Formats: sequence, C-alpha cells, structure tokens
Amino acid sequence: MQKILVTSALPYANGDIHIGHLVEYVFTDIYVRFLRITGRDVIYVCASDAHGAPIEINASRRGVSPQQLVNEFHDRHYADFSRFEVGFDEFYTTDSDENKKHCEIIYLRAKEKGSISERDIEQFYCDSCKRFLPDRYIKGICPKCGASDQYGDVCESCGAIYRPTELTEARCALCGAPPAMRTSKHLFFKLDDFSGFLKEWTSTPGRLQDEVRCFVNTWIEQGLKDWDISRDGPYFGFRIPGEEDKYFYVWLDAPVGYIAATERYCSDKDDRTVEEYWLDHNSEVEIHHFIGKDITYFHTLFWPAMLKVGGFSLPKKVHIHGFLTVDGEKMSKSKGTFIRASTYLEHLDPSYLRYYYASKLTARVDDLDLNFEECAAKVNADMVGNIVNLASRTAKFAEQTGLAEAYPDDGGLFAQAAQDGQAIAEAYDACDYAKAVRIIMAAGNRANQFIEQQAPWNLRKDPTKTKELQKACTIGLNLFRQLAVYLAPALPRLAKQTGDLLGDPIVSWEQSQKPLLGTPVGKFEHMMQRVDPKRIEAMVAASAEPGET
Ligand code: 2FM
Ligand code: ZN
Repeated sequence: MQKILVTSALPYANGDIHIGHLVEYVFTDIYVRFLRITGRDVIYVCASDAHGAPIEINASRRGVSPQQLVNEFHDRHYADFSRFEVGFDEFYTTDSDENKKHCEIIYLRAKEKGSISERDIEQFYCDSCKRFLPDRYIKGICPKCGASDQYGDVCESCGAIYRPTELTEARCALCGAPPAMRTSKHLFFKLDDFSGFLKEWTSTPGRLQDEVRCFVNTWIEQGLKDWDISRDGPYFGFRIPGEEDKYFYVWLDAPVGYIAATERYCSDKDDRTVEEYWLDHNSEVEIHHFIGKDITYFHTLFWPAMLKVGGFSLPKKVHIHGFLTVDGEKMSKSKGTFIRASTYLEHLDPSYLRYYYASKLTARVDDLDLNFEECAAKVNADMVGNIVNLASRTAKFAEQTGLAEAYPDDGGLFAQAAQDGQAIAEAYDACDYAKAVRIIMAAGNRANQFIEQQAPWNLRKDPTKTKELQKACTIGLNLFRQLAVYLAPALPRLAKQTGDLLGDPIVSWEQSQKPLLGTPVGKFEHMMQRVDPKRIEAMVAASAEPGET
C-alpha cells in the first residue's frame, strides 16, 4: 500500500499556540483522520522549530538556556495540540541529532555539486552585545514616514519595506547602542541552479493550488536569488561543517525537521525506516505538507531544491491556506481576539472550533474569518440542533430495547446518506471540508424531519407501540451514527462518544454503509452543549491586553 506522510508547519518554540495556528493544525488533522478512517497507511509528523536568533535572545533575557526554553514550549504546545485532538504520530524537535545529520547531508551534497557559494556581506554589528544584528534586532526611524521605533525590515506605521541600513538613527534593539557595520563571509545556496527543475516541479498538475502555482511561477521567471544560509555566532543552531563559528540559518534546518521527525517516529514506533519515506525516487510514498501562505517561498522553492540536491523524496503536494482574521481584521491583543489555545480551552469546548473551521475550510488560499456569533449559531444549529439532536431524541428510548434486529423501512434515508458518502469522501480528499459539512448537514436535516414525523416521545406513551418505538429509534440512531462516521475526521470526540453509546467503536468509513443492528444502547450522555455567549465574552475579556496592537 502507498505510504503517506503528512506534515504541518513546525511551530516556533518561542510563544504560545493561538487560534490562528490552530487553523493549520485542524486543517491538517482532519485530512489525516480522513485518510486513516478510509484505511490509508498514513503518518502525521511535526516538531518544534527550535533554532534561530529570537529563541536564543529570548532565552538569554529569561536567564535560561535555549534548550530549556524550547523544552518548555515543546511541552506546552504538545499539551495544547492534544486537547484540540490534533493527533500527531510524532511531535519532535529540530534541535536533535537526526536533524543535524540530515542538514549536514544536504549541505555537503549541495557543496559537492557546486551549489554553495561564498561572499562577504556587510551587516550591522553591536559592539556591546558582541553580535551581528538580524533585521528585527535593529530599531530606528522609518526612512519613508519618519515613524520612530521601527524595525530594520518593515515599518509598522506605513508598511514600507527597506534595508536596516536605510533606517535613520539605527540602534541595537537589545541594548540601545548605535551599531557599526562589519563584514563577514556568508554561505549561499545557489537557488537559480535549480530553476529548470523547479519550473517543472511546480507546474506538475496537483502539486500546488492553481492560484499558488501562478505566483510561484512569477517568482521563478523573475530570477531566483542566492539564498543566505549561514549566520555568525552567537547563534542557536547547528554549526556548519568545515566553517569557523558559522551556523545554519534556522530556515535551512527547519524543514529538515520533517525528515528528523520521521526518523524519530520510525525508530520509536514503527518497524519502517526513514529511508522508506524520504529516499529519492521512492514511488511508494506520498508526502503532503500543509503550510500557511506566508511560508510559500520556503516550501515551494528552497525546500524542493534542497531535497533534490540531497537526493531525497519530493513532496507530492504542498497545501497552502490563508490566515485567520477575526471579524475581518487581524487578530488583535487589545481587542482580545488574539486568543491563545490555552485561554480558549479554559472557556470553550475545542469541538466548537474544530467544527467551525471545518465548516469554512476549502482548498482555496483565502483567509478564514472567525466571527464568534456565527460560530455559536453554526454550532448550535448544526451540531446541537441537527446532528446530536438525532441521538438525544432517540437514545434514551432505546436504552431498554437496544437496536432492532432488522433495519426498518426509513423511506430510503439511510441508503441516500450512504450514497452521499462518495461525495463527502471526495470533498475531504480535495480538502473542501466546507462542502463535506454541507452534504452531511443536509442529510441530518432529512433525518430530523423523519424523527419529527415518527415522534418517538409520543410512541413511548402508548404501551402498544413498543415495536414502533424501537423501529423509530433504530432508524434515528443509525442515521446519527452514519453522520458521526462522516464527521469523525473533524469531530473525533463525537465519533468516540457514538461508538461508546452503541457499543461499536467508529474506526472505518465503511461503517457508514451498513446499519448497526441487534445491539444494546448505552446510557445517553450529553455530547455537545449549546454555546454559551457569556463564555465567549469571558474568553475575549481574558485575552484582552489593553495598549497592545
Ligand atoms: O513560520 C513558522 O512559524 C516556522 N516556524 C515554520 C517552519 S515550517 C518548516 F519548514 F519547518
Ligand atoms: Zn546591543
């Protein structure tokens, strides 16, 4: 069977997971769970993105080692992901031996093939901090609009983009001293050597979404610049072999973390080897990367070129999604819409967000807008009022009798929804979860109308109608279970509760095609509560940081 490897972008171990990050992890997790439930051989790996100047500087500010900081965030991230039911097979770290080994392999092969060049570059250096200053560690006055206290790469006031040397009154952002220019040798990856390969690779049908292919091709046509892959010490990262006090730039070692996490997974939890996943020309593997649109360049140009030169397998598809906006705007700390995963969890059920994202996610790169009123209305109407309602209106009447031995006449509802399974599966497969959800909800509405007509709550009052009551409940619970199977990729907890209620765990898509009969029905427990708007208000209030952007 074809092996499938799926990844999400590696989160920086330097800050908390928030609801914006969760778009991507939920997006990927639904895809992986869909592949799993349809019987595919899939693993889902991720890791902490551990290296780079910001992590090293943040650690030194807190008086801890970079490793300690990374470990702390790694554990917090993992806890958040677990509570949102993001089911990694491996959540590793880029600060690992496996990663170092693979970075070196790729670099040395690139060097051997003449794809690494050297040249001197001039950069700001802070004499008192004894370090070169990355753009984000220089502040000054914007050369375009005159706003003070702007970073060395972009003005947050007017949006201008410039080089740090263009800032007026540049200062070291760490200590405030004026920096000086200093020259040092840097190593470059000659990306343009790969332009022919990248042109062909990116234009292969199915590799990238159409809209992405278009702008990636424009980048290639405009000419690919050499990529600066080295940083001078002090830097938290891997030393470059054969160089004095030079380190791989974090963006070189970050994607290699996908390979390292696979290796860790294989040695810990599987009898397969990393080579089976990542060795070149291995036609029995499909690699899928899920990323946000801001890191497209890295994943569609640098990364495939690195894999190519290193002799590794290339991704089959890079799935790119847009950003999260809240009420049409960027998440804002002052408005309380920059919501950490852990804050969300203190107030609301993670299934609400998973369902809401699923109902809005498509294969397009558009931004996804979160509106809490809409989210509450959708969850209440679709999940509580439609899907879960099928169980809550029937399960308690079937506790005594269990499910009937033969499936009663339901006017073709089960068969119709079973047929929908094909279109729902195609929609999941195409990452058009919004479409899958629409089809599922339509089937739920049909089922609810039927239950409404049967009115089991009335049948129960008539002792001569026990058979009819059992039939109505057998139908209601089977239609419910069928939809719980379809929703299982998005709502794994609901699938688990359904399996527990009916004594038959949901593990396969095929379970949507055949009714469950003659089995006992457990005690009905609440599966999802209505969204309480007060809890949303409390979450937003708890997230608000006045004075922040
Ligand atoms: O942009 C980011 O958040 C990076 N930490 C993503 C890295 S993805 C991969 F290349 F490692
Ligand atoms: Zn300084």
